Amino acid sequence: MTSTPMPAPTPSTPVTPPSQAPTDAGFQTGPLVDPAQAKVPGGTMIAIDAISKWYGDFQVLTNCTTKVSKGEVVVVCGPSGSGKSTLIKCVNALEPFQKGQITVADTKVMDKATNLPKLRSRVGMVFQHFELFPHLSITENLTIAQRKVLGRPKEDAQKRGLDLLARVGLSAHANKYPGQLSGGQQQRVAIARALAMNPIVMLFDEPTSALDPEMVGEVLDVMVELARDGMTMMVVTHEMGFARKVADRVIFMDRGEIVEDAKKEDFFGQPRSERAQQFLSKILQH
Ligand SMILES: Nc1ncnc2c1ncn2[C@@H]1O[C@H](COP(=O)(O)OP(=O)(O)OP(=O)(O)O)[C@@H](O)[C@H]1O
Ligand SMILES: [Mg+2]
Repeated sequence: MTSTPMPAPTPSTPVTPPSQAPTDAGFQTGPLVDPAQAKVPGGTMIAIDAISKWYGDFQVLTNCTTKVSKGEVVVVCGPSGSGKSTLIKCVNALEPFQKGQITVADTKVMDKATNLPKLRSRVGMVFQHFELFPHLSITENLTIAQRKVLGRPKEDAQKRGLDLLARVGLSAHANKYPGQLSGGQQQRVAIARALAMNPIVMLFDEPTSALDPEMVGEVLDVMVELARDGMTMMVVTHEMGFARKVADRVIFMDRGEIVEDAKKEDFFGQPRSERAQQFLSKILQH
């Protein structure tokens, strides 16, 4: 997709004042996940094998190894600067790494033969900032990559996009522009947009940390539903309530290393490392 900025026409419809805002359609029943991707026991979906990465002389990741099985939800936490974002960006090759290997399904991420646009089209990514195209309507945001990257016909792309918009409770907003939606609503659109590509895994990097507190819940609700539908997910977040509810495992990173990689029950029960214990006690104070 091109990053050339395009002139952003001013949306013709004024922002609806909150008192008159159409209420969200509410969560529809039905899976968020393509049934073909639904939970099937076993099978490694993401294998991160001894990766190390440097920015110049600075080593940002040191010998990181972990696996995410199909249908598994892995929460990644740790102090600021510990390498969480860098690690998940390596999974869809947004960041190169110098040592080790990452395999997504059967595709080796750093292999010269790998078709990166194709890999990225199957690895959904949701960032802290929603990064919707401001000059495109919500429907256009939901369909553009389906059409340009996957070559889906317009009608099919629209059907899939609008279906997912309904699933995240936002049918009423299909013709609006991103700037007319709240942060929480925009983030739900960003999730729907990623799902529209039929991803085999979803990566989230602090998807709720830029939101006003009252909007965090609606985004987490969509993510919980997605997890329960069997999506394979790697989620960088400090929302420990979410981790307790749906994570299978928790990875704790510090200074570029995976210090702890434990089942949720073990991590919250008694983290092994002192660093994880200190981190948990700090964030759980609030
Ligand atoms: N492009 C870059 N060039 C140089 N150093 C970088 C670059 N991006 C990140 N870093 C450094 O790499 C380290 C890890 O950064 P990263 O963003 O992965 O941390 P993080 O755990 O996601 O932190 P946060 O919780 O603040 O988001 C930090 O010390 C950061 O300053
Ligand atoms: Mg980060």
